[in-house]
Amino acid sequence: MRILIKLILAGLAATATVSAIAGDVAYPNGFRQWGHVKSMVLKPGHPLYDAVGGMHHIYANPKAMRGYKSGRFADGSVIVFDLFEAVDKDNAVAEGKRKAVVVMARNAKAHKANDGWGYEVFDPQLKKGSLDAKAQADCHSCHRSQQDKDFVFSAWRD
Ligand code: HEC
Repeated sequence: MRILIKLILAGLAATATVSAIAGDVAYPNGFRQWGHVKSMVLKPGHPLYDAVGGMHHIYANPKAMRGYKSGRFADGSVIVFDLFEAVDKDNAVAEGKRKAVVVMARNAKAHKANDGWGYEVFDPQLKKGSLDAKAQADCHSCHRSQQDKDFVFSAWRD
């Protein structure tokens, strides 16, 4: 938990640091046109609230959409966790300010250490990420629990 908060903050600091891993994760231009997998609101009290509290939507590019359906994500699959503040007003919960654009991208060769997944947290204004190899490994340490789903938590439904 603590580690994840640090990671997100490190990502949001958005210094122009280039990650140590070659072929690293690029900003997912145009991701709002991709497949929408699901949305969720994490409220205060949820164990991940401090790290990724608010409203998020998950998007998948065409390759990742095939991955959700087949259970295997090919190289070039990109999944975006688009995180917003959740504004609770007049008995409705709406999107507030965008907090971060959190990305997983499959590149088996570049990210061998993390079972082929590259991880990045982008500052939404600067579109710059800054996770180093250690931070990416920390992301993967939690995603590893989803090994039977190729390390992806969310699931597709029609
Ligand atoms: C403590 C566990 C944990 C850690 C650490 C973690 N995640 Fe996740 N991640 C999750 C969970 C749970 C979901 C599913 C959210 C949902 O179902 O809406 C998720 C979903 C995602 C998704 C959408 C694809 C999927 O797996 O459903 C991306 C992209 C993502 N995380 C990136 C990251 C990045 C980048 C980091 C490191 C900064 C990170 N995660 C660290 C638990 C974690």
